[in-house]
Amino acid sequence: MDWRQKIQALKEEISQYRIEKKDDVEKFRIAFLGTKGKLKEAMSLIAEVPAELRKDFGLLVNEVKNQADTKWNESKEIFEHTQEGSQVDFDLTAPAFHGQVGGLHPITKTKRKMIDIFERIGFTIFEGPEIVNDWHNFTALNMPQDHPARDMQDTFFLTENLEFLLRTHTSSSQILALETKPLPLRIITPGRVYRNETISARAHCTFHQIEGLYIDEGVSFADLKQCIYYFAKEMFGSDNIRLRPSYFPFTEPSAEVDIACFICDQKGCSVCKKTGWVEIGGCGMVDPAVLKNCNIDTEKYNGFAFGMGIERIAMLYYQINDLRLFWQNDMRFLKQF
Ligand code: PHE
Repeated sequence: MDWRQKIQALKEEISQYRIEKKDDVEKFRIAFLGTKGKLKEAMSLIAEVPAELRKDFGLLVNEVKNQADTKWNESKEIFEHTQEGSQVDFDLTAPAFHGQVGGLHPITKTKRKMIDIFERIGFTIFEGPEIVNDWHNFTALNMPQDHPARDMQDTFFLTENLEFLLRTHTSSSQILALETKPLPLRIITPGRVYRNETISARAHCTFHQIEGLYIDEGVSFADLKQCIYYFAKEMFGSDNIRLRPSYFPFTEPSAEVDIACFICDQKGCSVCKKTGWVEIGGCGMVDPAVLKNCNIDTEKYNGFAFGMGIERIAMLYYQINDLRLFWQNDMRFLKQF
């Protein structure tokens, strides 16, 4: 090997040298750039080089020295911030991998939209407990013991004496509000309710309600109607609704609220059961007996109440035909919202 080949080999060796961890940087420096390193060794080859080629020799050695310097400086920078002895075997410049982000459940979305609509006209949120006593769920709502209306809702009782139960409607929270809050009162009570029903596409033993209550001086049925119109318009973009006379023990007069079926344009479909109308809730003027139960002066105050199932509203809003889908947590279903 002549000096040219030797320097060429050194050049190759430098470029092949693997610097894989922090320690290797210093090892590289000692091996090639150190006082007893291979570059020093190469320089001593000058003795073999004829005078007229010494200039070429100088250029070549210089090139190799620059190559080693560059490699050393670059590796120093790469390993500068790594811990002593740690190994970098991942690409710090690769784009970050984003995990899957969760979303809100359609019931939560519907609930928030409904709350938003009522908050815009001055309703505030009042949340009561899910475990209630007989008084708040039934008796104060004008359903004394043995009142037949108690059978309208199948109840999960929690105690033998039937004193405590899972609320069957959020009207129980409205009683609590009437007992504890100053008048006038304008609240909505979003929350989960329980009924001992067989699970089907249209019914579940657990569902959600938003009920509203407005108590003030001189409240009229027209106020109630406007409130319902406003809600339907904001929620569904349609105020084509009708109030159908009905019965609730705690309101008089009472009505059921139907909205014109916008899924079939009232031509008749499975959602409206071919009637062209879909029931979205109940409402009425609060029966003075209920206010008296909460020690409210019925000469001065009156008001209205309404109640809606969030699942029913969500089914209409998103056009979902089976209530059970809300509970199955099937990602294929949930991802659509
Ligand atoms: N509480 C009733 C129910 O759950 C709904 C309702 C509320 C009706 C307020 C009239 C007034 O069925």
